[in-house]
Amino acid sequence: MVGFVPTMGSLHDGHLSLIKKSKQRCDLTVVSIFVNPAQFSPNEDFNSYPRSLEKDMRLLKNLNIDVLFLPNENLLYPKNYSTYVEEKMLSRGLEGESRPTFFKGVATVVIKLFNIIKPHFAYFGEKDMQQLRVIKKIVSDLNIDIQIIKGKTIREKNGLAMSSRNQYLQKKDINGLGIIYDSLNYAKKLILNGEQNGAFIKSEIKENLNSFKGLEVDYVEINCSETLEKIEIIDKSVVVSLAVFINGVRLIDNLEVKI
Ligand code: PAJ
Repeated sequence: MVGFVPTMGSLHDGHLSLIKKSKQRCDLTVVSIFVNPAQFSPNEDFNSYPRSLEKDMRLLKNLNIDVLFLPNENLLYPKNYSTYVEEKMLSRGLEGESRPTFFKGVATVVIKLFNIIKPHFAYFGEKDMQQLRVIKKIVSDLNIDIQIIKGKTIREKNGLAMSSRNQYLQKKDINGLGIIYDSLNYAKKLILNGEQNGAFIKSEIKENLNSFKGLEVDYVEINCSETLEKIEIIDKSVVVSLAVFINGVRLIDNLEVKI
């Protein structure tokens, strides 16, 4: 069995946990590193996205992975490239609303990579909850014979979700940004204690987050766990998700609350 972990590199323990999961189950594990231009809009950080190939290769060597796939841009998007994959339901809100071309770019590259590598299992992190669900939906809608396996969000000691973009942050911000996970857990506590008013919970989270200097909230949302539809009265399992900017660096996180 072949397991596949697509990444954009600058590997951290979040990526490595997916790779370890694949290694446990599969005979052969393939990791790809490709900073995919199609999922960045012109005003985003494609050029400055952290790249650390040598360090990544060392980490992968230590894990003894079987294959590292490092496609270049011309291989995946040759001149006159003109085919894109678009999912039109789960990808509409949240990240899809803030970054309108993002999921089209992600879906296209992931399906291309699936077709090149032909894995039996592919691993995606819950940290990018909507991405995981969009990929699952596409695989189901397009009858692609690959099982999508999710991996838990790996966090720093203070709860900050690991992300390649954390490298842009200053140490003092990293230390304080446990506030993101704390806010999500506070929302979870409110919901589990019976609070059903989504607007109230969102405003509590925003107020919490806004107390952090330099932080700007992009969105805080509460969505149905199953369908990702927006929920106003919380009477079923939900996922609370958010995106924030810290001095221009965009970070996302989410927490599922099962009731
Ligand atoms: P990238 O951000 O490099 O993430 C690669 C994989 O690692 C994704 O499945 C992501 O959800 C997972 N991941 C990232 N941080 C994590 C964390 N803290 N804990 C657990 N898993 C984590 O996501 C992408 O790249 C790209 O969109 C990609 C799917 C490769 C397509 O270009």
